[in-house]
Amino acid sequence: MQPSIPTPTSNAISARYPAGALAFPHRDLTGIAHLARHEILYLLDEAEQWVALNRQPQKRAEVLSGLTIINAFFENSTRTLLSFEIAGKRLGADVVNMHAATSSVKKGETLIDTAMTLNAMHADAIVIRHASSGAVRLIAEKVDCPVLNAGDGQHEHPTQALLDALTIRHALGLAPGSDLNGLKVTICGDLLHSRVARSNILCLTALGVDISVCAPPALMPSGIEAMGVRPFHDFNAALKGANVVMMLRLQQERMEGQFIPSPREYRHLYGLTLDRLAKAEPDALVMHPGPMNRGIEIDSTVADHPTRSLITRQVESGVAIRMACLEVLTRRARGVPGWADSDGFGAGGAA
Ligand code: NCD
Repeated sequence: MQPSIPTPTSNAISARYPAGALAFPHRDLTGIAHLARHEILYLLDEAEQWVALNRQPQKRAEVLSGLTIINAFFENSTRTLLSFEIAGKRLGADVVNMHAATSSVKKGETLIDTAMTLNAMHADAIVIRHASSGAVRLIAEKVDCPVLNAGDGQHEHPTQALLDALTIRHALGLAPGSDLNGLKVTICGDLLHSRVARSNILCLTALGVDISVCAPPALMPSGIEAMGVRPFHDFNAALKGANVVMMLRLQQERMEGQFIPSPREYRHLYGLTLDRLAKAEPDALVMHPGPMNRGIEIDSTVADHPTRSLITRQVESGVAIRMACLEVLTRRARGVPGWADSDGFGAGGAA
């Protein structure tokens, strides 16, 4: 059974945040790093109405009718691309997907030329996934419309972090407006290559979460303590007191050389099995952004656990969060009162 989700009315949302564009004064969503706590909560609260809509048989809103959204994915993706595509379509926009494998990128076109081409087509929002950290920011500087980061290299994946926070809030039955103060989350896996971990650390710490991170020495970024987290190499120790365990995929495609002795050895030390989950709090919840390497970083008994696993609920929250981000970022273009440049829009920089 799905838990009932409290749906805030727009009045309730507007009472909680600064008026108009001051609630979210950013043109783009390139990362979590530049967002204030109340801006993160604003996006989470805006997403609640879309979670509710997505559970109806009739799922279409015409809010973005007539607008064109381009999903420019320079790196393979299934769930994130599909999630953004569904989000745009449910809001009534025309959604076009550009796959780099079949685009002029393969013919040697530079990123800037691709950006200029997309811009000349008068897109109203561009969603970008790229293998290079910083590529999304570069494109955002060259185009006139809002740019949303769907994952850039090892840098950030902001919508993933937002959807994870929303999923946790729902799983704990917390009301709109609530942060996650006092919660203990353990993030384990390939931290070195993970934009999901980076965005989640930024987002969850902003919401008051106490974070432990765990990875083998070769996959632990040096100086990660500076992000306000506690690093561990021993998974059992890292799980102590955890209310939520967030597992990360071993990103073998980003590894040059040997980072782990063998997948079997990795599972033995860092795989989440039911036995190991017992080291966390009794009702600890489990998350994974997908795609999963079943039997390596996570066992199927955990991933498919009927009460402990939030993995399919993360996918559900993903569509709602992306709808919220697209709707909020296009308010200026749609002429929503209070969202013009003169209303403070852009005051938060191009973050
Ligand atoms: C993540 C990504 O692409 O960064 N997946 C996703 O967005 N669903 C994590 C990963 O690839 O392991």
